[in-house]
Amino acid sequence: MTTPYITHKTIAEFSNNSVNLRQEDVEEYRAQVNRLREKLDKYIAEHPDYALVKMLHSGSVRKGTALKTINDMDVAVYIKADKAPEGNNIVNWLADRLREAYPNLNYDQFTTQTHCVTVSFRGSGLDVDVAPVLYEGDSNDCGYLITKDTGDRVLTSIPLHLKFIRNRKNNNPKHFAQVVRLIKWWSRIQKRNNQSFRFKSFMAELILAHLADNGLDMSNYPSALESFFAYVVSTGLSKRISFTDYYAASKLPSSNGAVIEIFDPVNANNNVAFRYTD
Ligand SMILES: Nc1ncnc2c1ncn2[C@@H]1O[C@H](COP(=O)(O)OP(=O)(O)OP(=O)(O)O)[C@@H](O)[C@H]1O
Ligand SMILES: [Mg+2]
Repeated sequence: MTTPYITHKTIAEFSNNSVNLRQEDVEEYRAQVNRLREKLDKYIAEHPDYALVKMLHSGSVRKGTALKTINDMDVAVYIKADKAPEGNNIVNWLADRLREAYPNLNYDQFTTQTHCVTVSFRGSGLDVDVAPVLYEGDSNDCGYLITKDTGDRVLTSIPLHLKFIRNRKNNNPKHFAQVVRLIKWWSRIQKRNNQSFRFKSFMAELILAHLADNGLDMSNYPSALESFFAYVVSTGLSKRISFTDYYAASKLPSSNGAVIEIFDPVNANNNVAFRYTD
């Protein structure tokens, strides 16, 4: 047998040098979000009628799956559903609520995107994208998340997603998060070369969670990547993916014709891939 040119060691070194956000940056960025969160908590404690409930760090920096090339972080802000405005002005309204809570930031540090509010920290940290969650007090923190990429309203729970990913990381220390980052890196290159290429990070995490749950050994990166691509090619992603962490398989809906079905581990009625076409 010939020795493969690309070995596990090659990819592990490449990951450390080029793919992974450095641990000290991870810690600094997490601290940045914590400061924002603590200020909001303080404002909420002092203003019981305020419409916002809390802020949770929901994105890849929190999950430990961020790439070195990251340029924004994701937080979810829980909003008392009965205080939120109807329709499409929620983002402008949310920007004004955030300006109230952060009087030390400038007015124009809050800009509205189509589906989220971006808080900019020019030079002193990463930008933070704030996605709204309409919340009615559910004990598992379930609420309607307005996703920042498409604006879909999906009933889900950020803390349960974090727990879901944490469990996969615990079952495969170091390697699960590394293989997620490598696939995200590959996806980033595809997106750079092809404007119409789409592959949401959360979907990459769920496909890899499915493979890990079914016994994929992730400790050798060339073979883990090969298995991922072999799975995509051999199934054409036409096999449903679901998890039984938080609901029984019997809760899944019958097929509604979606080309790809990758179900949210928290909500059997949320196919994370429902917008993908052939
Ligand atoms: N369609 C969806 N349904 C349910 N939850 C979602 C959906 N889209 C995003 N989320 C939530 O938002 C979190 C962030 O996922 P997303 O794919 O946007 O980016 P990310 O993990 O921050 O990766 P990146 O490094 O690309 O920013 C997910 O972990 C999940 O909790
Ligand atoms: Mg993100």
